[in-house]
Amino acid sequence: MRIRAESVLSEKKKTEILCAFCFEDTNIPIGLGKLNKKIDQIVLQSVKEIKGKKSKINIIHSHNEISAERVLIAGLGKKSKINSDIIRDVTGNITKKIHELGIKEFTIIVPNKIPIKNEQVISAIIEGANLSLYDFDLFKKEKSNRNQPDLSLLFPDKSTGGNNMHNIIKSSIIISDAVKFTRDVANLPPNECPPTKLGEIAKKIANENKMKCTVFSKNEIKSKGLGGVTAVGQGSKNEPKFIILEYRNGKKEQKPILLVGKAVTFDTGGISLKPGEKMDEMKFDKCGGCTVLGIMKAISELRLAINVVAIIPSVENMPSGDAFRPGDIIKLFNGKTAEILNTDAEGRLILADGLAYGIKYYQPSSVMDFATLTGACIVALGTNVAGIVSNNAKLAGKIKNAAANTSEEVWELPINDDYMDMVKSKVADIRNIGMGRSAGTITAAAFLANSVGNVPWVHFDIAGTAWIQPSTKNKSYNSHGATGFGVRLVIDYLMNQK
Ligand code: BES
Ligand code: MN
Ligand code: ZN
Repeated sequence: MRIRAESVLSEKKKTEILCAFCFEDTNIPIGLGKLNKKIDQIVLQSVKEIKGKKSKINIIHSHNEISAERVLIAGLGKKSKINSDIIRDVTGNITKKIHELGIKEFTIIVPNKIPIKNEQVISAIIEGANLSLYDFDLFKKEKSNRNQPDLSLLFPDKSTGGNNMHNIIKSSIIISDAVKFTRDVANLPPNECPPTKLGEIAKKIANENKMKCTVFSKNEIKSKGLGGVTAVGQGSKNEPKFIILEYRNGKKEQKPILLVGKAVTFDTGGISLKPGEKMDEMKFDKCGGCTVLGIMKAISELRLAINVVAIIPSVENMPSGDAFRPGDIIKLFNGKTAEILNTDAEGRLILADGLAYGIKYYQPSSVMDFATLTGACIVALGTNVAGIVSNNAKLAGKIKNAAANTSEEVWELPINDDYMDMVKSKVADIRNIGMGRSAGTITAAAFLANSVGNVPWVHFDIAGTAWIQPSTKNKSYNSHGATGFGVRLVIDYLMNQK
């Protein structure tokens, strides 16, 4: 989809279809202005019909009365309830409709005089349009999303345009493309995407965008003492990889931000085998790592003036004669021994190594990790809100702001010494599960906290939000499969970081 901006009068705009939003309570298409007597009448009728109800869409034909062949009106719902996600969602609905009708080019009038910052409106429109036609069709002969329409943004007055507009458009395209990239990688089936493949993908984006990429082999992982990755990876013929990406475009002396992402390319549970139902979904157990890859791709294309290091420990968790077992005691990179009580609690083992390695060798100013870590997170928060756990209220506060900006919702769960005690072991320093079903998401985070120490840290449990599940709310900009959750949120945070 090509996207460009213009500021001509809407009556002069030559386009296959001119799209305007309207609220439920005002009855006037926002920014459309006067077109011509006849058409204005018909538009008004059309507006009355849909009553501005959210996502209701009407299209009228202009029969050459004006420059635009058609006019589309889309409801936004009540003005008092408007937010940027409604714009994102409704734009996605408009775009889908236009694609359905086979229209090749469309124009959206950027709504002015609404209670949302102009730059947020523009990025919501671009993200909604760009993400709504995403479909993972790599393995299908019939491709659904060919011939994507081109989009023009029309700015009805000077207040909505401005110098910054082109930068916002450019960065919104980069960011939504990065979300699609994350989805593409996360949607790969497990037979096509072993850890080696993730290493290759990381190398490719590093080469394209001036990043350094290092991928440790199984032997290197073992000899460096990454005992968690070694243990979880040893049951599979697909060897584990430990992927490091370095982006440096900040001041030399500035400490990097560390991002760590869980990339279990398939989680069978190992010897503590999962039940068969929905096991196929455990191809999405690499989503944390894919989110981190998408973030790195975007920030390197945006050339943000910061330093960021990403670590993606990647394994396949399989049962076999070589697999690790319940009862094993292993030594993690952080120097602590861990008693394995359930081989299905594998994510925390590889993340513990990723966190400790990154903190030791890169001395980051702060750390964020992303993981489809616990089913308990879905029980607690459902599939529309990610769990976060943090040791630093200031950093967590900034993450909550970014979540509000991007409508990628998070909810903070507590952590304290009582939870830390729940992962202590009688026979080793720590154990890889908590106490029964009690606070499963927090005890997983408590296990990780053993690798983090005092570095400001936010852990994201994206088990519920990383892909579309039956209870996921409908959004036009999400299709089936992986969502790319977290990419927009973290980039928003990093862009406000200076
Ligand atoms: N990858 C799973 C968590 C998961 C399950 C995410 C279902 C999304 C949907 C993780 O490795 C896991 O199996 N966790 C166990 C931990 C338990 C054994 C302490 C879980 O949540 O059941
Ligand atoms: Mn598991
Ligand atoms: Zn897992």
